[in-house]
Amino acid sequence: MSEPPHVLITGAANGIGRATTLELARNGVRMGLIDIDSTGLESLATELRSAGATFVAATADVSWRWQLCQAVKEIEAALGPVDVLVACAGFGTLTLVPDLALDTLRHTFEVNLFGVAESIEAVLPGMLNRGRGHLVGVASLAGYRGFPWMISYSASKAALIAYLEALRPGLARRGITVTTACPGFVRTAMSTGVPYKRKVKMIEPEQAAQHLVRAILRRPRNCVFPWSMGMGLAILKLMPDRLFDWLMRRAGPEALAVDF
Ligand SMILES: NC(=O)c1ccc[n+]([C@@H]2O[C@H](COP(=O)([O-])OP(=O)(O)OC[C@H]3O[C@@H](n4cnc5c(N)ncnc54)[C@H](OP(=O)(O)O)[C@@H]3O)[C@@H](O)[C@H]2O)c1
Repeated sequence: MSEPPHVLITGAANGIGRATTLELARNGVRMGLIDIDSTGLESLATELRSAGATFVAATADVSWRWQLCQAVKEIEAALGPVDVLVACAGFGTLTLVPDLALDTLRHTFEVNLFGVAESIEAVLPGMLNRGRGHLVGVASLAGYRGFPWMISYSASKAALIAYLEALRPGLARRGITVTTACPGFVRTAMSTGVPYKRKVKMIEPEQAAQHLVRAILRRPRNCVFPWSMGMGLAILKLMPDRLFDWLMRRAGPEALAVDF
């Protein structure tokens, strides 16, 4: 019988990454777990140990190359080469005009774009040598357009979507699949901080995890969920700029408890 695949997950300690880890554990997968939150990682490890899961956890900042490479080295030494990378670590906060908060913009790109690129860089040479592998980058539907209450976040996810898309054809010729995951609203620490006036329809991290696990099995180019929000955002993406601006001017202040 062949060995179960080795899946490396960044941002594993909380939210979508944590739920995905627990779902993968139920599927008997070997897991490398990386997160900047060492306390969260430790509590996850306790839960996984009692479930009898096979895993190695390491604390690292995905945007710090040296730390990340050390963590990946440690994990691969224990579990063998990574078959699938799920780059889920992310950062998001409100950025509103007129405060362009360039430090926030820089940090958001460091984590959401460079953190994913560094994670890919850490596992790609091995995958290229073996002529197989699967890279799953967790972007966001917020990257489909520039949303005025999440300027930095939207920009970073749009950049990530384009980055993963651009990697796809060249890596496919070398046996490596790239999947861009675009979740809508998921109930985690990141999304609950946004001051929406009304209740926003969110899916649970466990539902997001099921979509990601299915994407690991089926290796689609894109994994957009929930379906209804994906449709809405696809329409928004095709909308003429004039109409989009009008909608944002209306929808923004009506939807948010803060002005922009
Ligand atoms: N929640 C949503 O509605 C939603 C929607 C679309 C896409 N996404 C994307 O889904 C992914 C997971 O988000 P989530 O909602 O599960 O957020 P979350 O609950 O905040 O989990 C993100 C995890 O990544 C960790 N992390 C942050 N910066 C890191 C770094 N530099 N190095 C290593 N780990 C780092 C966080 O640690 P700390 O907690 O210590 O910061 C946290 O454990 C993100 O890429 C996010 O952009 C989320």
